[in-house]
Amino acid sequence: MIRATPVQVRGEVLARRRVGAYHLIEIAAGGIAERSRPGQFVALSVGGPLSSMLLRRSFALYRATPVGAYSGTVQIVVGVHGRGTEWLAAVRPGDSLDVVGPLGTPFRLPSAPTPCLLVGGGYGSAPLFSLADALRARECRAEFLLGAGTHERIFGELEAKRTAGAVTVTTDDGSYGRRGTVADALPDEIERTGAQAVYACGPMPMLRAVGAVAASYGLPCQVAVEESMACGIGVCMTCVLPVVGEDGVTRMSRSCVEGPVFDHERVRWDDVGTVPADTLGAAL
Ligand SMILES: Cc1cc2nc3c(=O)[nH]c(=O)nc-3n(C[C@H](O)[C@H](O)[C@H](O)COP(=O)(O)OP(=O)(O)OC[C@H]3O[C@@H](n4cnc5c(N)ncnc54)[C@H](O)[C@@H]3O)c2cc1C
Ligand code: FES
Repeated sequence: MIRATPVQVRGEVLARRRVGAYHLIEIAAGGIAERSRPGQFVALSVGGPLSSMLLRRSFALYRATPVGAYSGTVQIVVGVHGRGTEWLAAVRPGDSLDVVGPLGTPFRLPSAPTPCLLVGGGYGSAPLFSLADALRARECRAEFLLGAGTHERIFGELEAKRTAGAVTVTTDDGSYGRRGTVADALPDEIERTGAQAVYACGPMPMLRAVGAVAASYGLPCQVAVEESMACGIGVCMTCVLPVVGEDGVTRMSRSCVEGPVFDHERVRWDDVGTVPADTLGAAL
């Protein structure tokens, strides 16, 4: 798969607005929008020019609009986690942001019309909307299953309803939608939609569980993982996880360049966070 070389641009914040528990930030970032594909991400400097926060923060691309008055805009959805995201949640229109992207691998699309189920956890649903557009352009039906701990942490319910006609929502405590996790609801959704492929983005335990359910139905499942990152460009090995290659050999794969999208079945979920002894190049 040929991927566009990432570029570093000084973007301008065009808008920031609150959406439930998140902040939707639109950035004029010419050069990135026109190169990006669903599933890829951007890495932003945070804290301003004198910041002591040296590492960039990664965010999935929610929307990338290549043309328009600002010659390319990208949108990201930010949940406040620590100091970097807190700073981002306070940016204002006109502020300048240093953005690198597009980074990582995109979701692969079916070559023939295929009913697909898109499963998002929290802000993890953000990259699934441009994926749905790309799937529909290939005459693939795309339906959504969205979940989170609470109602305000579900992102994109209305958009999913508008574009897919129906969306199933879960909350852990049942305070909104169906009680439980998206993995709990997945068997019914697979039956209801007749899905032949599953795509998922969200926290690692969710991805693991969703992929296991998909596998029990014999369905392929691509997951966009969220491993802690430092360089974001394949140099530091912070973001590695054990992945089995087509040759059956386990390698520590860098989720920033070889991912974030992986086939669920290739990730050694029990061993994430470790270097299994049979990994290529592991110390004996
Ligand atoms: C591919 C990818 C896509 C992501 N997409 C989104 C998104 O769409 N929306 C969103 O809100 N968040 C997303 N995240 C998570 C986001 O990058 C972290 O929440 C953010 O880096 C935390 O920074 P902080 O300074 O607020 O937190 P801190 O905990 O203070 O961060 C400290 C350091 O740890 C790293 N770090 C901490 N948590 C994470 C994490 N979960 N993932 C990666 N690095 C982390 C940071 O880069 C930083 O270097 C994504 C992460 C990855 C890897
Ligand atoms: S974050 Fe440095 S190699 Fe992936």
